[in-house]
Amino acid sequence: MTHPASEHWASRHGFVLASLGSAVGLGNVWRFAYVAGENGGGAFLLVYIVMVVIVGLPLLLGEFALGRSTQRECAAAVHAVAAVSSPWRHVGLLGVFVSALVLAYYAVIAGWVLRYLGLYASGHAASLAGPGARQAFDAYLADPLLPIVGQAVVLFLTAWVILRGVKRGIESLNLVLMPLLGLLLLVLAVHAATLPGWRAGLRFLFAPDWSVLSHPQVYLAALGQAFFSIGLAMGVMITYGSYLAPDQPLPRAAVTVVAGDTLFALLAGLIIFPAVFSFGLDPAQGPGLAFVVLPQVFAQMQAGAWVGMMFFLLLSIAALTSAVSLLEVPVAWASQRFRLPRRTATLVLAALLLAAGIPASLGYSVWGDWVTSGGRRVLDLMDVVAVDMLLPLNGLLLSILLGWVWPREQALAATGLSPHAGGRLWHAALRYLLPGLMGTVMLTSLWRL
Ligand code: TRP
Repeated sequence: MTHPASEHWASRHGFVLASLGSAVGLGNVWRFAYVAGENGGGAFLLVYIVMVVIVGLPLLLGEFALGRSTQRECAAAVHAVAAVSSPWRHVGLLGVFVSALVLAYYAVIAGWVLRYLGLYASGHAASLAGPGARQAFDAYLADPLLPIVGQAVVLFLTAWVILRGVKRGIESLNLVLMPLLGLLLLVLAVHAATLPGWRAGLRFLFAPDWSVLSHPQVYLAALGQAFFSIGLAMGVMITYGSYLAPDQPLPRAAVTVVAGDTLFALLAGLIIFPAVFSFGLDPAQGPGLAFVVLPQVFAQMQAGAWVGMMFFLLLSIAALTSAVSLLEVPVAWASQRFRLPRRTATLVLAALLLAAGIPASLGYSVWGDWVTSGGRRVLDLMDVVAVDMLLPLNGLLLSILLGWVWPREQALAATGLSPHAGGRLWHAALRYLLPGLMGTVMLTSLWRL
């Protein structure tokens, strides 16, 4: 048997900010912008918001509740509610595995972000103007070593925060960085409103193209993006919930995190799309959107070097607070499960994750010839496996676990909802709506492969 978490948040405020810090990340800026761009903008946004409210919110509340009431990290928390011999008790391990898989490539992309921050901060962004942006990005990725250095720096910083512990590391980091992040976002959003492409950007993001609603992959994309952006189905929110004292109310925290995360993605869209349209570039650019299109935009703007620096600073902060949450899951698991000192668990896992992420980097240089038939490289492949397959699968399993395996009274008591209206709705959502919806979305997309 593993023992309960020995660490706790110093304040409720710290817990909410840390969860928001986990939610707001590359997913809101880099991933949201290109997934919305590829899936038609407005109509995707609508499906996305529906998914966030009906799937994201109940599941987030369930994860917080499971963590807080068991006071254990994700794998042990699941173990604690499943019967001793039931196969359900292993479901939590999937979360540990997926968060490690995501962090392995997340750190690679965060490394690119740091590199771009460095270019802007040291006044070297001039080379990123016009078509030079694509060449510069490709040349950087084609270097076998440089991106790995960036990835290593990210993992080093992440491990350093984790080594300092929950209160002095994760919580302090978020207390300082999240307000700064909000400020940067507001400055950039106000600036975007002065651009000539503002209206075109708004139209793209808010005017629905209903025809995309007939494509099943839009629903899967929206579901995967909602999981990724809020940070669900990987045990992060279970683990963060486990550091909460038992008397803290949860529903408000869950609403704050979901609303804050969605608002952040919308504002990021309002920063990115007006800029893209102002300079006649294409929003459906795939993962290179932030690194190829935006530098061209910044190069043509007044004070673009400053705007670019602020943008990449924002992205670096958002990425770091999320990477920290992803590393905390396997570290909490290893240290509670094997009674390892936190220090050993952190160092060993960071080294393993560095090794696991290196192929994602090399997929753009020495292993550049290795591309799947769909044109995917190693990094895209890791993202597809994690976000389009394992996250919805784990989300499905978790909602069944929370709705069916965890005894109803215990589950309701753990959320702090009233057992009548709110609680009943929440439980019914986990029991019927989520499994039904996720099962349907997954089956239809498998069907069409
Ligand atoms: N939510 C983060 C983002 O938007 C990434 C992240 C952190 C995440 N924790 C997670 C994704 C857990 C999935 C699951 O970038």
